[in-house]
Amino acid sequence: MIFEQVATGGCQSYLVGCEATQAAVLIDPELSRIDHYRGLLTRHGLTLKYVIDTHTHADHFSASKALGKAFGVPVVMHRLSPAPHADLRLDDGDTLIAGELKLKALHTPGHTRDSMSLLMGDRVFTGDTLLIGGTGRSDLPTGDPHQLYESLFDVLLRLPAETLVFPAHDYKGRSHSTIGAEKADNPRLQKTDRADFVAMMEALDLQAPTHLTEALRTNMSGGKTVAQLLSEAAARTPFMALEELKDRIGGNSRDLIVLDIREKDAFDAGRVPGAKHLPRGQLELRVNTELPDPTARIVTCCEFGKISTLAAATLRELGYTRAVALDGGMKAWREAGYPLEN
Ligand SMILES: [Fe+2]
Repeated sequence: MIFEQVATGGCQSYLVGCEATQAAVLIDPELSRIDHYRGLLTRHGLTLKYVIDTHTHADHFSASKALGKAFGVPVVMHRLSPAPHADLRLDDGDTLIAGELKLKALHTPGHTRDSMSLLMGDRVFTGDTLLIGGTGRSDLPTGDPHQLYESLFDVLLRLPAETLVFPAHDYKGRSHSTIGAEKADNPRLQKTDRADFVAMMEALDLQAPTHLTEALRTNMSGGKTVAQLLSEAAARTPFMALEELKDRIGGNSRDLIVLDIREKDAFDAGRVPGAKHLPRGQLELRVNTELPDPTARIVTCCEFGKISTLAAATLRELGYTRAVALDGGMKAWREAGYPLEN
C-alpha cells in the first residue's frame, strides 16, 4: 500500500494507493494543496479513482469538487451531505473499492450530521469524530453531542484496540494514534457516561473557526472561495509592474489607458497621472462608451491590486484583449513615492 499523509496547518489529508493496480483514493483534500496532490499521484504512478470528504468541513476549504472535476472521478461523501457536487453518496456499512483497497463507511455523526469514518484494513480515518487526544466539536451547524457520544462509544471505540487512528486534524504535528491509546488516554473519552460526556461538550464554549461562513458556503454549495475567484482571474490576466507603469506615464501615454476602478472619493484623493475613472460597479454598464477602442492597451488599477485583476479579466472576456492589471495597487504606488494627480 502507498500511504501519504499531507498536513496543511492542522488539517490532515491522506492519499492511499494500491500497489498492485495503481488505483488511489484521496481523503479530505485541502484546496491550497491541489498541485501537491497532483505531484504525489504522478510520483507514485497512481490513478485517482475517488476523492472523499469525511464530512462537510467548516474550518478549511475542500478540494474535492475541484479534484473530482479535474480528474473526472466521483466526489464521495455520506448520503446526508448537503453538497450538490457529492456524486457518490455512501450509507453506513457501504464499502468503496479501488483496486485492492477496500474502505468501509461507518456513519459517525455528532461533529456534523454527515460525518463518516472510513475503515480500511488495519486503520480507520476518523474525520473530525475522533482526534488524537480529543474529539471534534459538536457545536457547529448539524453537530450533536448525543450523536457524537454514540459514534465514539458505540462505533469507533468498539474497533480492535490496535486499529490505527488517522484523524482529519492534528494541531501538534502527530500523525496517528490507536483506538487502544485513545481509549486509555484521550481525556474526553474518560467521560464514559452519556450525560457527563454531553455536559462536557456543551460546556466547551469554543471560538468559531476562522473562515466559518466562507468554508460552509463553499463546501456545502460547491461555490468558490474569494481566493479561488481571484486566482482564476489572475491565471488568465497578465500584469504590469508598478515600475513599468511609472516609466510609461509621462511618455507617449496615449498608447496606454490607465483605468482606475475605485470609487470616486478614492480616485479624487490621488490617482496615477492621466488615469481614467470607471468604477468597478459600473464597468460593464459603461464600458462601450468609456472604452470605445477594443484594441487599446488598458491597465486596470484599484487600491490593493485584487479587484483590478477581476476587472482586467472581465475586460478580456468582453474582448479587450490587451487589458492587464497593475501588479500591486494604489497603496503600493503611493508607498513607492510614485507621482500622483488629484
Ligand atoms: Fe470538521
